[in-house]
Amino acid sequence: MLELMGDWERTDYCGKLGSEDLEREVVLMGWVQSHRDHGGVIFIDLRDREGLVQAVLNPENSEEVHKKGEEVRDEWVIAIKGKVSKRTPETINPNLKTGEIEVMASEVRILNTSKVIPFLIEEDINVDELLRMKYRYLDLRRQGMKQNIITRHKVAAASRDYLNSEGFLEIETPYLTRSTPEGARDFLVPSRLNPGEFYALPQSPQILKQTLMVSGLDRYYQVVRCFRDEDLRADRQPEFTQIDIEMTFIKEDDIMNVVEGMLKAIFKESKDIEIETPFKRINHEEAMLKYGSDKPDTRFGLELQDISSIFENSEFKVFSGAIKNGGIIKVLKVEGGGSELSRKEIDDYTEVAKTLGAKGLAWIRVAEGEWQSPIVKFFSDGEKEKLQETLNLQDGDIVFFGADTPHTVNMVLSHLRLSLGERFNMIDHSKFDFLWVVDFPLFDFDHNEKRYVAMHHPFTSPNEEDMHLLDGEKGMIRSRAYDVVLNGVEIGGGSIRIYRKDIQEKIFKAIGLTMEEAQDKFGFLLEALEFGAPPHGGIALGLDRIIMLIAGAQSIRDVIAFPKTQKGQCPLTEAPSAVDTNQLLELGIKLDIKEKDEKES
Ligand code: AMO
Ligand code: AMP
Repeated sequence: MLELMGDWERTDYCGKLGSEDLEREVVLMGWVQSHRDHGGVIFIDLRDREGLVQAVLNPENSEEVHKKGEEVRDEWVIAIKGKVSKRTPETINPNLKTGEIEVMASEVRILNTSKVIPFLIEEDINVDELLRMKYRYLDLRRQGMKQNIITRHKVAAASRDYLNSEGFLEIETPYLTRSTPEGARDFLVPSRLNPGEFYALPQSPQILKQTLMVSGLDRYYQVVRCFRDEDLRADRQPEFTQIDIEMTFIKEDDIMNVVEGMLKAIFKESKDIEIETPFKRINHEEAMLKYGSDKPDTRFGLELQDISSIFENSEFKVFSGAIKNGGIIKVLKVEGGGSELSRKEIDDYTEVAKTLGAKGLAWIRVAEGEWQSPIVKFFSDGEKEKLQETLNLQDGDIVFFGADTPHTVNMVLSHLRLSLGERFNMIDHSKFDFLWVVDFPLFDFDHNEKRYVAMHHPFTSPNEEDMHLLDGEKGMIRSRAYDVVLNGVEIGGGSIRIYRKDIQEKIFKAIGLTMEEAQDKFGFLLEALEFGAPPHGGIALGLDRIIMLIAGAQSIRDVIAFPKTQKGQCPLTEAPSAVDTNQLLELGIKLDIKEKDEKES
């Protein structure tokens, strides 16, 4: 039954045929999307990378062709020779790109059969993602998934074209390398030739790209895989791709111009959208104040307000207590939202707030001039007055309160802000809203380790105006780091770097690293900085996240050909897997792993 391609050569893609091809003899090759027998005439939808076309197998034209049509099943691979014809008006399919034509088959070759597929090759199928990942090659036959991979190609190509035209050099850095400073766990690779020693897969090419600037290569980029062993989420994979950039003799504006130009080119090439540049800028402090987040979704308003001062000495201990413990009180007011939200919805928001670490979620709803609320009874008249003055509450409004540490309040209310934005249809999902977040703090205080840690990474330059604070109030020092945010997703981050050894040493001291420890970790960069390092800076953009947003996908898994599950596994290849004892022996590795049952008991 099976035949060879023989002397046939494919002339066209199925999905590219149209009225301009009428009367042409074509040879098509592809997969049977579906086959229908309509009173003797068989219709086959043939699919290839570019789409579908309908082929007609009519017994009146050829008995043999028709017989083969009766044999074929979905997802078999066939070749069809035939003539492109106009469909009759009543059979035109306006939903199909090739819907005005069909191919009248004169010959058919069956090239391969297929087992029965585990799920339909159609959009909007409700199939477990694990099954889709196990049969990824079938999943990628679906139009939407295939389109995501094509979009990915276009985005990568557009960024390369843009950066090439701006005088950047694409330079590769090694994957077998030493630990890099991005702060996640490393993936380690044992070295056979150096028993007991390990390479680390790079979390980013950070240090090496900086040394390339010391070399004088001036403008570097790389579309590069990065590896981070961290807890996975919808927008995080253990291996992901960055568009990594570094430039010499530049300031923040130069990096931002390049990134804006590149994103403009990416959106034009992949989606035919003109995005507006320059992007808005907001400093970190204002972002935290207004949105409670350093990656705010600015497609809608609904800003937070700090009302701590009203309740400093309140009898309501939930509020005054929070402030005494160094906390804050912030509110989120939804105009007219109170009359729409049910009590159950309010309770559900409270439950979510608790799962995020809040002790509760107080609220006031205004109806017919009355404040309905579980907490108002604890407020003094003066507090109520000040609250009304500040919030201007009207009938129908609802306001939610968070009282806790700044971290918890901001986390809970920024989360609630997004939920309410969705709930009240405030978010325009057709919009691409870009934002630079600048002036990040240089340090974060790590309460567990009781020391300052670098917020971006320890090679980020402090703001020159704040340099004197290095010996004082370190938490107040602003850095020269910047993030680029799109619709509330951090799509990139970078900084102007430290290029002088004296400043670098001060930073290491501030984060509690002795020079010996620093030398041990990043010694070669520190030495490079002593050989005429120029002022430089850069950024890395998360390619997967950009594509996810362009494709309108829910997760970066949908824009990666072979992604990993939340547990870092690949259901297709079944990686990671146990290895041969011999392989371990060669590496000098002895396993000491408790049996699974033992571990879980
Ligand atoms: P950063 O760690 O901020 O900076 O990473 C830059 C961008 O990479 C993307 N990203 C990820 N995408 C998918 N999965 C992940 N696990 C993941 N982690 C990060 C994000 C992020 O904004 N070397 C510095 C850059 C520099 O300073 O030039 C760095 O790697 O979109
Ligand atoms: P309680 O006195 O704990 O019953 O709380 C009274 C109201 O205040 C309830 O609506 C709680 O959800 C809310 N609440 C309690 N703690 C907090 C907090 N830290 N921040 C905001 N609201 C809170």
